[in-house]
Amino acid sequence: MADIHIVNGPNLNLLGRRQPEIYGKRHFEEFLEELKERFAGHRLHYFQSNGEGSLIDYLHKVGFGRVGIVLNAGAYTHTSIALADAVAAITAPVVEVHISNVHAREAFRHHSYLAPVCVGSIVGLGLSGYALAVQYLIEHLEHEQ
Ligand code: DQA
Repeated sequence: MADIHIVNGPNLNLLGRRQPEIYGKRHFEEFLEELKERFAGHRLHYFQSNGEGSLIDYLHKVGFGRVGIVLNAGAYTHTSIALADAVAAITAPVVEVHISNVHAREAFRHHSYLAPVCVGSIVGLGLSGYALAVQYLIEHLEHEQ
């Protein structure tokens, strides 16, 4: 049984209401219930914050355990060296996820401070990206045992 932490950054609490043409019409809480059913043999934890410091504190708290982390840092992806330092500091594998295809959007979304310190990135696959990241992390943690 794996422990997977899904961490969403700023404005992702508005999923379903926020620019639905880009991010879709589903509320994350509803999708999360579906994910928990799909990965019923594992423990999925969820944390969302609009604050950079709170996201860093959460990574510090859980990131030294035998866990996997799925991180959609929202706009902090493109701005936060502090968040990248936190990901580099912790020992848990982190997969970066973006709902939209950031490479097909504004130039300022093309650069990620997080990508080099994550095990991999999934972009543009909508909410499915979270499920794929969870699947990967479960396999990754099982292989490490
Ligand atoms: C996002 C992409 C970011 O550029 C943006 O700031 C977000 C959401 C995504 O999931 O597509 O808040 O991370």
